[in-house]
Amino acid sequence: MKNLSVDHLLGIKFLNLDDLELIFETADNFKEVINRPIKKVPSLRDITIANLFFENSTRTKLSFELAEKRLSADVLNFSSSQSSVKKGESLIDTVNNILSMKVDMVVIRHPNPGAPQLLSKKVNATIINAGDGAHEHPTQALLDSYSMRQQIGDLRNKNILIVGDIIHSRVALSNIFALQLQGANVKVCGPNTLIPKYLKDFGVKVETDFDKALEWCDVANMLRLQNERMSDSFFPSVREYKKHYGLTMERLQKISKDIVVMHPGPINRGVEITSEVADSNNSIILDQVENGVAIRMAVIYLLAKKNFDR
Ligand code: CP
Repeated sequence: MKNLSVDHLLGIKFLNLDDLELIFETADNFKEVINRPIKKVPSLRDITIANLFFENSTRTKLSFELAEKRLSADVLNFSSSQSSVKKGESLIDTVNNILSMKVDMVVIRHPNPGAPQLLSKKVNATIINAGDGAHEHPTQALLDSYSMRQQIGDLRNKNILIVGDIIHSRVALSNIFALQLQGANVKVCGPNTLIPKYLKDFGVKVETDFDKALEWCDVANMLRLQNERMSDSFFPSVREYKKHYGLTMERLQKISKDIVVMHPGPINRGVEITSEVADSNNSIILDQVENGVAIRMAVIYLLAKKNFDR
């Protein structure tokens, strides 16, 4: 039986193609489990997992919690807004206190890039990154690739477009690393102000004309404008942004082929994507959420297998 090459899931940049294939293969098995009448396996019965969320989340938090419960792990949920972090306790002290209650694994979402890496060096637990600032969101990229493969098969030489606020997005960076490992062609599209210059060094193509980019792609992954991370003005107005980069049914019908439409959520309906497109047959947004549970079960199971011999 194969093992992951890593002891923590800190980012896609630390994984190799074999790791991705092993995660997808394991997720296939768990997808079958969660579609059974009894959606649970006893694999992690003696493992305790703490979900530490220092930033808001709906999908990722619930999906991790459900994945852990489906694997029969004991689950602790921590939200920074109701904790002693508000009284000035440091991240390392907070986590070490939680770990002293015999916790084996930590899932962490944090606004600061690198927080999961820091923890992996300073505390004695398996760490899973559930999103660190604008850096990485590895389980989102894994579930995105898994969902794409369900629709269009092997991603080698497929054209994948990531649209919108790339510069503030952890989803974009993790997707780029995952897609490149699988041999996909990756292009980003948006106003120049929202596209980081360093992406060209990663071999990612940049297109500012959205209609041209849509004609090129097999999949369009639409990203939200991350207003909470914008300290400046990056485009003239939301109206202008919608006109040039909003995905409408009219735009979708103008291109010569059927493409798959994705969005990691939360959606700003009527800004980066209209309701008509988000709820259309092209959209696999809810499939992404469904696949998230199986992917997170796979990641947790594989790390527990490697680190705790499960
Ligand atoms: N896609 C995603 O990370 O959503 P949440 O912020 O709701 O977890």
